[in-house]
Amino acid sequence: MASQFQQEVGRRRTFGIISHPDAGKTTITEKLLLFGNAIQLAGTVKGKKTGRMATSDWMQMEQERGISITTSVMQFPYRDRMVNLLDTPGHEDFSEDTYRTLTAVDSVLMVIDGAKGVEDRTIKLMDVCRLRDTPIFTFINKMDREVRDHIEVLDEIETILKIKCAPVTWPIGMGKAFKGVYNLVTDTIHVFKPGQASIVPDDVQIQGIESAEALALLGEELVEELIDEVELVRGASYEFDLDEYLAGTMTPVFFGTALSNFGVREMLNYFVEWAPAPIPRQTNEREVPPTEEKFSGFIFKIQANMDPKHRDRIAFMRVCSGAYTRGMKMKHTRIGKDIKIADAVTFLAGDRSAVEEAISGDIIGLHNHGTIQIGDTFTEGENLQFTGIPHFAPELFKRVRLKDPLKMKQLQKGLQQLSEEGATQLFMPVNNNDLILGAVGVLQFDVVQQRLRDEYKVECIYEPVSVNTARWVYCTDSKMLEDFKRKAADNLAIDGGGYLTYIAPTRVNLSLIQERWPEVEFRATREH
Ligand code: G4P
Repeated sequence: MASQFQQEVGRRRTFGIISHPDAGKTTITEKLLLFGNAIQLAGTVKGKKTGRMATSDWMQMEQERGISITTSVMQFPYRDRMVNLLDTPGHEDFSEDTYRTLTAVDSVLMVIDGAKGVEDRTIKLMDVCRLRDTPIFTFINKMDREVRDHIEVLDEIETILKIKCAPVTWPIGMGKAFKGVYNLVTDTIHVFKPGQASIVPDDVQIQGIESAEALALLGEELVEELIDEVELVRGASYEFDLDEYLAGTMTPVFFGTALSNFGVREMLNYFVEWAPAPIPRQTNEREVPPTEEKFSGFIFKIQANMDPKHRDRIAFMRVCSGAYTRGMKMKHTRIGKDIKIADAVTFLAGDRSAVEEAISGDIIGLHNHGTIQIGDTFTEGENLQFTGIPHFAPELFKRVRLKDPLKMKQLQKGLQQLSEEGATQLFMPVNNNDLILGAVGVLQFDVVQQRLRDEYKVECIYEPVSVNTARWVYCTDSKMLEDFKRKAADNLAIDGGGYLTYIAPTRVNLSLIQERWPEVEFRATREH
């Protein structure tokens, strides 16, 4: 008999949504929250037109540009499960954030625009999911529009994303003639009623594609069409296999329209059944099972200014084992110190409420006063370090210059703190007093500039700098490292986390230095 703790862990479903921008991630998130009773009326999460703000739309810049910069966490109960949904930024300039968020989930929901099929960003994000064989649910959206041939879209998913498709629901009609979805497994028609986009829609079901009710609803022609289509689909696709799904080689596929709120519940009902409960996590020492009673977790995201009223920084932690309880002591393993956590937080539809307890699979937010970095591990005493939470070498570099030279201290503090959040990286050359900012995407520079102004009252400008790429330097031979440091000093810097980096003016320069120092490692990603 499983203990109550084990049962609670088994109830958790922690996932993220991947999609190309505009496929409908925000809209579907809103509907999921509606079904989870986390919001009363869909539209409170996002409504550019009504002026209501998205839970994750906290930054002015985000509103202005209509992109999601931040990652936030939404927890809601559904049926007998507790669902944790981790929001992922859709814009590719924030891809690093998204990749790291994907290390904190157990499974993923992929949303595809039925009119567009597989798009760019989805391909990249799927590559990231594949690294860890993350199980994937698929929702093909926008059936209330004239979309592409569905079988063609499934084919595209199979060939481009290299994953087998097992359709579970199939759309009946599309655009104005959208009538609902047909469940291929249970032979049930779920009937679409328009005008229920903002509420939990009626659950009207017809059992049997060949029933009198189906005939009455759809008419003879449509029923025959559907029967033919379903036969074709069954012949052309796979039957769902739970093991293959859990191994990341097959995806169950659902159709619907997030905007008109149909097909989402039909997907969610299966999601909470099939999606994996918290999975074991790898550390440098051993694998940690989620049912282990001793607490452990890692930081995958640091974010400032979630709520303009609270100007602090929050470190998001994925709990990997045990339970967090208010006031408990945790060991911060990187610095080897015990710290007391009195006030971890959770975020639910914009409200920040104190959680008393969180267990494996849950996410908690720790107030960060500068000691917590992305990748940090916390335990109940054991010296562990969770692995696989990467920092990527930036591709773009700028020198930061102050408009008012007297504000150097604020600038340094601001840049340091913003780099701890992991969106941008700070490099301080060992031979001069420059501050060099590195980013994976151009937009990050704008965000830093704006946040320095708003949060640190510092006006800065950017100047070009002759840095092409950065590599983290490792060498086990300390004498050789010292030698290298002396000879390569002009191109060495310390990053925001205190790590030694080589900042290469050109790719050619990097190759040359690598050839010259074969014993020194130049890494493109940094892991704790
Ligand atoms: P994203 O987070 O993946 O970027 O997508 P988001 O949900 O913001 O949706 C992008 C656009 O697609 C939005 O329209 C949204 O209303 C629309 N959309 C989402 N789901 C459906 C659907 O099932 N059917 C149809 N027809 N449209 C859908 P927008 O005009 O860009 O934004 P808004 O002004 O409506 O907020």
